[in-house]
Amino acid sequence: MIAPVRWAGGRLLLLDQTRLPSEELTREYARWEDVAEAIRTLVVRGAPAIGVAAAFGVAVAARQSTATTFDGLLADLEMAIKGLAATRPTAVNLFWALDRMRATLLAARTLSVDAIRSRLAAEAQAVLDEDLAANRAMGDHGATLVPSGARILTHCNAGALATAGYGTALGVIRSAHAQGKVALVWVDETRPVMQGSRLTAWECVRDGIPHRLVADVVAASLMARGQVDLVVTGADRIAANGDTANKIGTYALAVLARHHALPFYVAAPSSTIDPSLPSGAEIPIEERDPAEVRRVGATMTAPEASPVFNPAFDVTPSEFISAIITERGVFRAPYSFRR
Ligand code: MRU
Repeated sequence: MIAPVRWAGGRLLLLDQTRLPSEELTREYARWEDVAEAIRTLVVRGAPAIGVAAAFGVAVAARQSTATTFDGLLADLEMAIKGLAATRPTAVNLFWALDRMRATLLAARTLSVDAIRSRLAAEAQAVLDEDLAANRAMGDHGATLVPSGARILTHCNAGALATAGYGTALGVIRSAHAQGKVALVWVDETRPVMQGSRLTAWECVRDGIPHRLVADVVAASLMARGQVDLVVTGADRIAANGDTANKIGTYALAVLARHHALPFYVAAPSSTIDPSLPSGAEIPIEERDPAEVRRVGATMTAPEASPVFNPAFDVTPSEFISAIITERGVFRAPYSFRR
């Protein structure tokens, strides 16, 4: 099984996703500052995986701290939580996981500092285990929406690599594939940093899922020619009304799907739901380094002097979403999410 985040002997292990598909390199982390940097630089990415890594980042910080009292540990961990929270603004799973770790810490204040360290590692492991279970449940629920012989288009990577394992959108595809329903997965390349071609295609090859890679601009003509039956993507944050932030380009696919009368599904665990935001208008959208757009890999594809706009995510209004699949079931409009 693909496990992008693991905890072994008090150390955090991350599969370096920036090196895929050329190299399967696992890195070890013993400082929370390095975990934060790994999240910022996409060594670990995908909303649920970011949450799991951040939870272990707090466990790492607890081991790193030399505090001998609860107050000393609290001060060190508040600093780590602040640093981890400052890495990526859009995926709400990050803040959800950090809030959960802080609550665990505060509830353990009467324990010894060593016992608190163990308690935090166990809580991070619970975040991981629960995400894995949620993905399996989403796979079961989502597969009921997939017709036999389906040709499914997906965007970015919402697979095992983006989660504790198995995946959300790709988890639905995995489950439908296991039931023999998937004829083909159209894998969007996903510019600018190619999570589709580098990561989703890699997972499909590993699992023997029939797929075909396309440049992002191909989706419209595939739909027009009747070569897509449904679209399924993941999510980075879902507002109370169902508006959904996901990888840049997702909104365009939802509009295209509507035009071609195709179902457009979102699969995400309830840790991706942010009921505090009434609509998608309030979701913070990360802007990333212009260099990601000026080059493909190490090759410059634009003048260094060209100004760039590089939003990492867009928001799909809920009216374009046929259903949202969570571990709790399949939800349809009108959406009114609570955690
Ligand atoms: O910038 P990334 O690679 O972290 O963006 C990932 C996505 O947009 C995914 O679709 C989303 O996080 C869902 S992952 C199950």
